[in-house]
Amino acid sequence: MHHLTSEEIHKYAELYTSKESELLYDLNRQTHLQTELPIMLSGHLQGRLLSMISKMIRPRCILEIGTFTGYSALCLAEGLASEGKLLTIESNQEQAALAQEYFNKSPYKDQISLIVGKASDVLQYLNYEYDLVFIDADKMNYSNYFDLVIEKMASGAYILADNVLYNAEVLDAESGSKNAKAMHQYNIKMSLDNRLENVLLPVRDGIMLSRKK
Ligand SMILES: C[S@@+](CC[C@H](N)C(=O)[O-])C[C@H]1O[C@@H](n2cnc3c(N)ncnc32)[C@H](O)[C@@H]1O
Repeated sequence: MHHLTSEEIHKYAELYTSKESELLYDLNRQTHLQTELPIMLSGHLQGRLLSMISKMIRPRCILEIGTFTGYSALCLAEGLASEGKLLTIESNQEQAALAQEYFNKSPYKDQISLIVGKASDVLQYLNYEYDLVFIDADKMNYSNYFDLVIEKMASGAYILADNVLYNAEVLDAESGSKNAKAMHQYNIKMSLDNRLENVLLPVRDGIMLSRKK
């Protein structure tokens, strides 16, 4: 994945963005040492954005689809209401184990529940009202995940979806990859759903921020 902004702008933005915690810095490092695709981790700039958005919402219940090594979950957890909880779903056992190790070291260990399984199966039986949902796994199914969560969200709740610009391939989705087509379809679906208001943020690989009216 390349950044949609220039490397210089990205570095400048990171320079004037609050630092990540030592725990997040260490998790980022361990993810690079222990996993094959560390690029999947949200990273400093996007992580601070997720934290800031979560602090603005003060959610009682956050759902994340796609834990990887737990970086984004820990960022989102920073904004949880005092009795709030974060549920995060990951299909890969090894990545889930590393994530759990870092959740246990964090101040949010009692607020985060990591569920190992396929998101489409897990989402069927979860029964919560979500204030904030972060979709960040399995691009072909973003649209299905949206359908599975939207009825479990009250008015004023938010959905964030990552990678919606898919390396800028969405600009010519017809000749792009399956994933680029799926991201383009997701963006169209959000824009046509009159239950929502949307902002597509061209941060990193593109984040769609949708609010249920
Ligand atoms: C892009 S990474 C998530 C990155 C993480 N949210 C972050 O920002 O640090 C996507 C993760 O979703 C997991 N995944 C892929 N398909 C899945 C599925 N059907 N159900 C649950 N997790 C899945 C992958 O194993 C991978 O760890």
